[in-house]
Amino acid sequence: MKNSYSNIFNFNKKILHKTIIYLKKGNVVGLPTETVYGLAGNAYMSESINKIYKFKNRPKRNPLIIHYFNHKQAEQDVIMNKNFYKLYKKFCPGPITFILKRKKNCKVKFSATANLNSVAIRFPKHRIMNSLLKNIEFPLAMPSANKSSRVSPVSAKNVADEFQKKIKIIIDGGKANLGIESTVIDLTGHPKILRPGLITPENLSQVLKIKVKIINKNKTSKSPGLLRKHYSPGIPVIINQKNCKKNCALITFGKKYKNRKNFYNLSRTSNLKEAASKLYETFRKIKKNRYKKIYVVKIPNKGIGIAINDRLKRASN
Ligand code: TXA
Ligand code: MG
Repeated sequence: MKNSYSNIFNFNKKILHKTIIYLKKGNVVGLPTETVYGLAGNAYMSESINKIYKFKNRPKRNPLIIHYFNHKQAEQDVIMNKNFYKLYKKFCPGPITFILKRKKNCKVKFSATANLNSVAIRFPKHRIMNSLLKNIEFPLAMPSANKSSRVSPVSAKNVADEFQKKIKIIIDGGKANLGIESTVIDLTGHPKILRPGLITPENLSQVLKIKVKIINKNKTSKSPGLLRKHYSPGIPVIINQKNCKKNCALITFGKKYKNRKNFYNLSRTSNLKEAASKLYETFRKIKKNRYKKIYVVKIPNKGIGIAINDRLKRASN
């Protein structure tokens, strides 16, 4: 299907080949994953890393996630441990990012990891990412493809709208299935969650057979990138509300809310996974429809709801 964006491409062998050459030269591209769309560059090249930070206007102290095809590829760069293998076996490829210690001969550029002695690694589950990662001999540094502190993109168009023509290749992989960023777990010591996601604290605790907690990122220097203000739709977000004025929008959850023009329901059946997948899309819709503010009802703070509330809280900062 043709689209009106000259930099959005459907996936085929030709574009795969072109993308690989483009990445090898140190350029960056927009790519789909199962969580959100990313802005990808060669993790072994300074030039690519610089471009990512520049395009996103991202503070240099906020490290990037490095994406690999499988654990064998990643073994060259990080020190793996038992907890990693347990979680990898259960959840990968999938929406989880592991913080591990950097190997001495690690080839990932220090500039990609904010000069830390750790590296965040992820194995995305998306057929386009798999085809690409399988065919290159370097991993991809890939943050979400949005300007720093803004909402993550869930479609190729979202990426194109964010950066206009600056990104020459954006591959269309359809709407990002899960719609919310991966769970980030630090495995360099006692496992702790730095960013909640679809893989919940209970899921992780069950596999590791220990209680895994979320740490308050704002109080620690361990995750320098977890800035307080984040996921901002560009208009004020006010959480834990019950109603709102006509010139504002209300994000609702569950069947008890009426169908009103300015009401946006994340899930009529109170399904938290569905709600997570619709959150960013809903932010964008509301902004596009020119409402002044976004009010949000209380979302249950359990399971996937923890990740939704984490994003809402940051968006409301
Ligand atoms: O689902 C996802 O994870 C998406 C897709 C594109 O893969 N990527 C993503 O990347 O959300 P980004 O850059 O938006 O978020 C990366 C998060 C940041 O909060 C960063 O601080 C944290 O991971 N992080 C990266 N490296 C780290 C490290 N070495 N130590 C602690 N936190 C780290
Ligand atoms: Mg991001």
